[in-house]
Amino acid sequence: MNADLYFYAFKFMSGAFAFTLLTLVLRSFGEEKQAIDSDGDGYPDDERWFGLEELEIIDIYEETSDIKTFKLKRAQKKQIPKYAPGQFLSFEIPSEKKVFRSYSVSGSPENNNYLQVSIKKITDGLGSNWFHSLKVGDKVKAHPPSGLFTDQGLAPEVHRVFIAGGIGITPLFSMLRAAIDRGEKHPVTLFFAAKTKRDLAFHNQILEIAKRNKNVTYIPILSGEVDSSWTGLRGRLNLEILQEHVPDLRAAKFFFCGPKLLTKSISENLIEFGVHEDNLYSEEFVSPTSISEEDLPQIETILNLDGSDYEYSGKLNLLEFFESKEVDIPFACRSGVCGACKVKCLSGEVLSLSESGLTKDEQRQNYILTCVSWPKKRLELESK
Ligand code: FES
Repeated sequence: MNADLYFYAFKFMSGAFAFTLLTLVLRSFGEEKQAIDSDGDGYPDDERWFGLEELEIIDIYEETSDIKTFKLKRAQKKQIPKYAPGQFLSFEIPSEKKVFRSYSVSGSPENNNYLQVSIKKITDGLGSNWFHSLKVGDKVKAHPPSGLFTDQGLAPEVHRVFIAGGIGITPLFSMLRAAIDRGEKHPVTLFFAAKTKRDLAFHNQILEIAKRNKNVTYIPILSGEVDSSWTGLRGRLNLEILQEHVPDLRAAKFFFCGPKLLTKSISENLIEFGVHEDNLYSEEFVSPTSISEEDLPQIETILNLDGSDYEYSGKLNLLEFFESKEVDIPFACRSGVCGACKVKCLSGEVLSLSESGLTKDEQRQNYILTCVSWPKKRLELESK
């Protein structure tokens, strides 16, 4: 081989080496760019959200004098997972005990850069007072969005009737915004009951949505003092008002979120009118302060879980009781809405503050939510 041949051979080999190297670099770069998505749902495996995760507050603004909206993002620019409008986040609240509070997402799931929750400050409310003391840049910990309260999946022609009371507007506002962002045209009538105009969170945004979308009707109603500029409804929401604004009550689906009394009275009236109870959906968050110590049953009895007996006494709810016995029952919200802590009640009687986290089928099959249930008698429970 002469010098020229050596030169060309060297050039060819170094070119091939450079090409191979470049290919490897590009391939590895491509692999990094193309994150693994093993179940093909468009969501990278390493960005999945399991259990408690830290979120950063990126913005805070006031909706009313006692309601603040908190915008939250995940660390390392991770995507917000797909969630259904109407779902909530369960936050760990710093405390000596294990304390969680759940707050509905008030934003649209179509925005995958951040999540937002809107929280009303409640006198003596552990979670809401803590949240209202936080600043932009502070970190909180939450479970991923969950919950059954959503209108997602209903047929497009179904008329959705949203009935909100006070801060109960948040999941319904999320459903409304999701529908608008997705260009869905199903009819929506939103009744929003509050005390005064100042308590109508998102009022101007909803007015704007209703103005721009013929399929959306917005009926705010105020029960407190109103000034002369208020031209909307006054008093309490009732069946007559619903009849006036919803052409076919029996064909509509109703979503309630607000004070128990409002949900109960309107639901009863609707059922009496002939609306099937399967067309009524409601969500109710329960905190330990939702019931006073004196109203809790105090008994000594035997609780049987999956064939093992445990002696119960005191006033712990079932989840706390089994935790004290080092029996693991999964949980997330600890406020009766996510369904994670459900067990089947085979016999006995419980005091349950909420069934929001159970499907209608599970309710019929005697499932109970251990985080908001107390035994009234000997119980036989099944967790599997
Ligand atoms: S932990 Fe969510 S319903 Fe009990």
